[in-house]
Amino acid sequence: MEKTLVLVKPDAVERGLCGEILRRFERQGLRLAGLKLLHLTRKQAVEHYAEHRDRPFFPELLDHITSGPLVAAIITGKDAIARVRRLIGATAEAVPGTIRGDFATSVTANVVHGSDSPESAARELALFFPLETTLGAD
Ligand code: RTP
Ligand code: MG
Repeated sequence: MEKTLVLVKPDAVERGLCGEILRRFERQGLRLAGLKLLHLTRKQAVEHYAEHRDRPFFPELLDHITSGPLVAAIITGKDAIARVRRLIGATAEAVPGTIRGDFATSVTANVVHGSDSPESAARELALFFPLETTLGAD
């Protein structure tokens, strides 16, 4: 079993898409192992997206992810990291049937984040769910 971090981004929370997005994971047999709503500070956003700090789109990315509350979820299941990424779809021009393909309105307002590797998942889960990670909750 693997765990991965999903963020339902502020554009999706604002549009009332939380239930639909979490349902997409659940109906594929993936399960929730943690869930919370929070409004990221700029500092937390910089830490989460640190790998992108020198990219031209970084300011826009920070503005968007801090623009309102988001929903952070621990998603668990066999091969959860890769399966979540497949369900989310590509960063740009995601195909219909994927979450971004069906709901994204731009490359920035792309409704959802999923960890892209086991290393990213471990780092991001520790950032968003420090207690659960420290306690080693399954
Ligand atoms: P995420 O981290 O949010 O799950 O997205 P991702 O892996 O598919 O894409 P990544 O390369 O990690 O980029 C992080 C977020 O930055 C925004 N972005 N904008 N304007 C652009 O060219 C551009 N490229 C990336 C997107 O919001 C992307 O989700
Ligand atoms: Mg990414």
